[in-house]
Amino acid sequence: MNTLKNKKVSSSQGISLLLDLIQKYLDHQILLPSFKNDTYTKHYLMEIIRYKNKIQFILNKTLRSMKKDIKQRLNQTNILFYVVYSFFWEKKSLEKIKKEILPLSLSRQQIQDFQKFYQRLSNFSWEIALKGKTEIEQLSIQKAIPTFFINKLLPVMNLEDIKSNLEKMDIQARIGNFTIRLNSEIDLVEFEKKFYHLNLVRDENIPKIIHIPLKHKAKIITTSFYQESRMTIQDKASIASVFLMDPQPNEKICDLCAAPGMKTRLIAQLSQNKTKIVALDYDLARLKQIIPMMQKTSSKNYHIVHGDGLNPPIREIKGSLFDKILLDAPCTGSGTFSSHPELKWRQNQKFLNQNVFLQRDLIEKAYNMLKPGGILLYSTCSFYPEEGELQINKVLDKFEMEKLPSWISPSYKINKTALSGAGRFFPIIHNTNGFFIAKLKKK
Ligand SMILES: C[S@@+](CC[C@H](N)C(=O)[O-])C[C@H]1O[C@@H](n2cnc3c(N)ncnc32)[C@H](O)[C@@H]1O
Repeated sequence: MNTLKNKKVSSSQGISLLLDLIQKYLDHQILLPSFKNDTYTKHYLMEIIRYKNKIQFILNKTLRSMKKDIKQRLNQTNILFYVVYSFFWEKKSLEKIKKEILPLSLSRQQIQDFQKFYQRLSNFSWEIALKGKTEIEQLSIQKAIPTFFINKLLPVMNLEDIKSNLEKMDIQARIGNFTIRLNSEIDLVEFEKKFYHLNLVRDENIPKIIHIPLKHKAKIITTSFYQESRMTIQDKASIASVFLMDPQPNEKICDLCAAPGMKTRLIAQLSQNKTKIVALDYDLARLKQIIPMMQKTSSKNYHIVHGDGLNPPIREIKGSLFDKILLDAPCTGSGTFSSHPELKWRQNQKFLNQNVFLQRDLIEKAYNMLKPGGILLYSTCSFYPEEGELQINKVLDKFEMEKLPSWISPSYKINKTALSGAGRFFPIIHNTNGFFIAKLKKK
């Protein structure tokens, strides 16, 4: 449970802003607000979103036991959400919460009602509340995860591993390590000497990757290395997808879903800025973020293209076909709940289908754009087999699988066999997002 000490949120301005954002989120007026530098509001909002169904469940059960007139007056769901979160996750006292909500120009009656609501929370019993619920429903509430997610994973993962991965994703945002990658020109040993006091741990598998306790993140961000883009903060699984593609000087590489360009920059660096890169994306606002990123590399031979990967503008890809294509495909993001808890509540069959169809068509397009013998590196930050193994299984008549290193977990089994050219990253094993990678060679 989180115990962030937050002074700002207890100021009247801080609490009003937070409550306003909670309400907007609950009303679906915002998907994700821009926080600028307000890390406190961001933290509280993201945590309340992370546990949304659990908070709602506690709230409903508690209200059910209250008198009708009080219930009618307690109609400010945002405050109720805040009170439940403060009580259960932060163990805040009634006095403290009252002090926080007092500046909200509530009537004396409303304050009394919130007080009664708080007192009812103290009597909340999980045993009684969860009576009659199935094991999956209980898990969904207690781990704050849609039943859809659990049901999709049960054919490929046991319940204990689903639970552990979910728990790990919840705490990853607050404790544990984050990962950096140093640019190729930086001497790893020198860097380690300079920052030995930050408890650096070298990655065992990929050069120039270092894991650092999250508590040191603020220090890393203020270093000249970070400010001058001589290092990046990036999930190991994402770095691995480019590392495994192994970009070489003088190749022609397409990054088919490139924005905001973290992997495009890595392609440039790993090829010593000597490969020709076409970086394409559908989303113009996201695509624009690639420009400053690539300007910081010494790569000259790159084209940033706004377009649909299903129908890329011909000019940039005319002539020879590509040696390699990175298809870091749009997906449900079901492996990224740690940094994107809001995605938990978008998981459903329709959302999955939309992504699966788009991925299928993008794979087909990538196949057409590759030279014979060319490499397709397909990845998604998703746990679902539909966005990973099942996509690859459909195209094995067109591609051969390239063997992946043994430090990547095997893929889920399809017809009782793991795919040799595909693998997975799991939060509990690799301390990364949930991630799928396949390396394929065009026949
Ligand atoms: C997983 S993100 C890519 C992240 C990026 N590779 C990076 O590492 O910074 C998927 C991207 O696919 C893009 N996208 C979605 N549909 C697309 C399409 N039809 N054609 C091209 N890009 C598309 C989205 O705009 C999004 O930027």
